[in-house]
Amino acid sequence: MCGIVGYIGDKQSAPVLVSGLRRLEYRGYDSAGLAVLDGKKLSVVRATGKLKNLEGRVATDPPQGKIGIGHTRWATHGRPSDENAHPHTYEGVAVVHNGIIENHLVLKEQLKAKGHAFSSETDSEVFAHLIAAEMKAGKRLVDAVRGAIRQVKGTYALVVVTEHEADRIVATKDSQPMVLGLSQAQNFVASDIPALLEHTRDVVFMEDGDLAVLTPEKVEIFDAANKAVTRAPRRIDWTPTMAEKGGHRHFMHKEIFEQPRAVADTLRGRVLRSEGTVHFEGWNFTPEQVQAFTKVTILACGTSYHSGMAGKWMIESLSRIPVEVELASEFRYRDPIVEKTHLAIAISQSGETLDTLAAMKEAKARGAATMTLCNVIGSAMTREADLTVLTNAGPEIGVASTKAFTTQLIGLYLLGVKLGRLRNHLTVQQAQEHLTHITEVPKLVEEALHSEAAVKKIARTYVNAQDFLFLGRGPMHSVAMEGALKLKEVSYIHAEGYAGGEMKHGPIALIDEKLPVVVVAPKEPKVSYEKIAGNIEEVRARGGQVIAVIDADDKHLTQLADHVITIPPSSALIAPIIATIPLQLLAYHVAEMRGNDVDQPRNLAKSVTVE
Ligand code: M6R
Repeated sequence: MCGIVGYIGDKQSAPVLVSGLRRLEYRGYDSAGLAVLDGKKLSVVRATGKLKNLEGRVATDPPQGKIGIGHTRWATHGRPSDENAHPHTYEGVAVVHNGIIENHLVLKEQLKAKGHAFSSETDSEVFAHLIAAEMKAGKRLVDAVRGAIRQVKGTYALVVVTEHEADRIVATKDSQPMVLGLSQAQNFVASDIPALLEHTRDVVFMEDGDLAVLTPEKVEIFDAANKAVTRAPRRIDWTPTMAEKGGHRHFMHKEIFEQPRAVADTLRGRVLRSEGTVHFEGWNFTPEQVQAFTKVTILACGTSYHSGMAGKWMIESLSRIPVEVELASEFRYRDPIVEKTHLAIAISQSGETLDTLAAMKEAKARGAATMTLCNVIGSAMTREADLTVLTNAGPEIGVASTKAFTTQLIGLYLLGVKLGRLRNHLTVQQAQEHLTHITEVPKLVEEALHSEAAVKKIARTYVNAQDFLFLGRGPMHSVAMEGALKLKEVSYIHAEGYAGGEMKHGPIALIDEKLPVVVVAPKEPKVSYEKIAGNIEEVRARGGQVIAVIDADDKHLTQLADHVITIPPSSALIAPIIATIPLQLLAYHVAEMRGNDVDQPRNLAKSVTVE
């Protein structure tokens, strides 16, 4: 949720921190702040609102010092304000925190009884007080941080600097992401990789319970048992430009247009066409284990849940293993039935979504084999799962997920083929046909992006609509759901995604001449196409406005719809990927025309690491 960055080295820290926060702003953007240490004294600057407000204050009066910590906030406890912005300080201790302290009220009362005065409404401020109290009692910073953590119930990524030991940064984490960046004469800590890319690509992912001590020369790590440990650095192959806008007005637009490259990267090295199978690096399920799977349970939230819906269609038809798709937030609290012959797949762009991570842990604890389909190497899910399949989409900065969705669909399609072959449901030849379809995706996505001009025109027509309905059948149901989610989260227009067959059971009552209905109707799969044409007739008969997403060679639906958006024809399991592209563009352009902050929509954050 929140973004954290820390720097210690031979440069002035404020500019490094601000540029790191700029790259983390997608994690939270209702206020920001930094604390800089000049070897003796702390200077703190904080500002409500977007990072540019903080930048303005830093430019007017730049804090001096080569050690510093910064934070960009997504409010959980306490409204966005200067006082509630991090860093929080108390008696020479400054902290930035991501996560939630569940017992903060009790701790606050105890501290107040000892004379502590609080200056914010946040739970996080408690950390500054606890650490200051421990240091006052004679502890060194490292022990004071450990002492504070022992008193706290909840989750945290915590970074601390203090005037009392003004030569180091201490960082620790539990259930929140934290990554260390290693370099010459300088070291970094951050909640996500993009903050580090400008300076280093050698990183260490901290484990839960780890505590790191950073000085310019070295980083020492101690595990939960306070034992010094060595965690091997990993080299990240993302480049700094991958986390920049590259000439586009918004990250969302850039990321939509990056999809031909992103899906090609998901495919790279995985399609073994002559053998009619798929290679996943690190695949560690035995053929016997795969034969024995009786169920696949997909666990995910938001857009990743929608890709799971399409994945169900793919995996069931390719391997005949029954698939259930579960909202991760529901799964973990309903005593789920899990058996040793189940495979639980956590789908996640970030790999840090708390509900998905917890659901996967729950499935694992109950005996399921686990896998994650994830975009971020080293993230919590990739560390927890028995097997990781990376989507390789590159950093996704726009809060609205776009390339993560299409690359997840590619990953699920490849997985379906792999499982289908291992269970002998697919012949080599059938698998080869699917692999041929899959390798055409980058080109088809490229073509689908040509729909932008038509989509823009439609966006202009409906920019002031109050509501939208999205309909799709079969695998296109997930596309309709995703189209509606995309539109509502960036344009703030109310939108519903429905299975076409459900329209008669309620939503049809909404239809009038003001309601735009987006119907996702490629010709494949045929069974869905034939039925969805009936839905279009029903909408038209009630005066609704039909915007149909159809294959470029579809003469029939062209005549029925008020507006058409054409996409290149494709096969049944590819069509959800291609049909999603114009819906992403529709959401983007409507939001842009309404003057919304497309990359950082109100109330949202990129990774939801709290419940
Ligand atoms: O990182 P994850 O894929 O686990 O995130 C899940 C959802 O929070 C995410 O897809 C969210 O719904 C996006 N804002 C959708 O655009």
